[in-house]
Amino acid sequence: MLTETILVTGGAGFIGSNFVNAWVKLDLGKVINLDKLTYAGNMENLADISQHPNHIFIHADIGDRQAVQELLKTYRPRAVLNFAAESHVDRSIHGPDEFIQTNVVGTFNLLEEVRGYWQALPADEQAQFRFLHVSTDEVYGSLGAHDPAFKETNPYQPNSPYSASKAASDHLVRAYHHTYGLPTLTTNCSNNYGPYHFPEKLIPLVIHNALSGKPLPIYGNGSNIRDWLYVEDHCSAIRQVLATGAPGETYNIGGWNEKTNLDVVHTLCDILDQERPKAQGSYRDQITFVKDRPGHDLRYAIDASKVERELGWKPQETFETGIRKTVRWYLGNPEWVEHVTSGEYQHWLNKNYHERGEELA
Ligand code: NAD
Ligand code: TYD
Repeated sequence: MLTETILVTGGAGFIGSNFVNAWVKLDLGKVINLDKLTYAGNMENLADISQHPNHIFIHADIGDRQAVQELLKTYRPRAVLNFAAESHVDRSIHGPDEFIQTNVVGTFNLLEEVRGYWQALPADEQAQFRFLHVSTDEVYGSLGAHDPAFKETNPYQPNSPYSASKAASDHLVRAYHHTYGLPTLTTNCSNNYGPYHFPEKLIPLVIHNALSGKPLPIYGNGSNIRDWLYVEDHCSAIRQVLATGAPGETYNIGGWNEKTNLDVVHTLCDILDQERPKAQGSYRDQITFVKDRPGHDLRYAIDASKVERELGWKPQETFETGIRKTVRWYLGNPEWVEHVTSGEYQHWLNKNYHERGEELA
């Protein structure tokens, strides 16, 4: 008999840890959490469930076939959910190697082990098993200002080493379904924000820098558009797709919240002005425009009508409610921020912002 156990990869990162925390707190079964603990993985994200009997953490690489094989044999999960990835576009520009290793080669190795495990299961257990691959809207490339939002049928046109590596992994997942019949599910989600978001990404970086009195760096003129989804809504969508999605299908996940980067930063400054007013002036005074990202995608927007229509999923948060919750989380968790912004993070700030004419370290 297959257990109600799931194997999650990358569960110490931003979205993975939100997913694992919710899974355990909702009492949905046992989670085996495999994570390499790169700079983006953080055991403090899992502090609430560190002693919980339904959470088992394994320090390993998705590309380590021996480790994955043993876990599958020992725990016999009914699903594998792949969150593990290198996830930051700017880092992929500075050093694409790790993106190819983890996102492409690592996903391939994981798929191979999962295929071997799945093929050896009895027929009824094979039918219940799912491999859910967590991906991004960035695989579809960049939209013009008036183009319709990305549908599942849009062609793949990735523009950064990050999105190209994610596109490659999506193609492998698709091929494993088409060729071997592996019951796969792929989700392509828009930009997430919320608790445990590492402050190399726009929203947590701006909150952290605002509170530290540092510049708030906006690439180019701030008119690039992203579609934002509160991380807990992404996690509820993944649970819904896992429970009721059709094998071989892909689902676009998004919250219909398109915003320019400048709008996002203004909103953050305005909330901080209310929640933690400065002695003088507004946080907006710290905004600074810096050299643009090479190949910067103009606009992402997700058409989430398929997951809404076919699986009945809807987000709970609006951008306004989610962003306020997020700011309050960062204000309430200064130790978490302090711990993740020491060490390696300072090197990253030097590397990414020095060339843009800003000193943030
Ligand atoms: P993250 O960078 O915060 O976390 C990634 C996690 O994966 C870390 O815990 C890291 O230690 C782990 N990891 C990295 N390489 C590994 C390896 N080789 N083996 C095992 N573990 C490894 O990323 P995130 O923002 O939580 O994103 C999770 C997934 O969701 C990624 O696949 C990403 O492409 C996708 N996604 C992210 C967003 C977003 O806005 N953050 C949006 C859509 C999709
Ligand atoms: P980011 O959070 O890196 O996510 P992604 O590139 O995957 O969408 O960036 C979100 C947007 O914010 C993107 O258009 C780049 C921009 N940005 C800045 O303007 N300044 C920054 O310091 C960062 C990190 C991002």
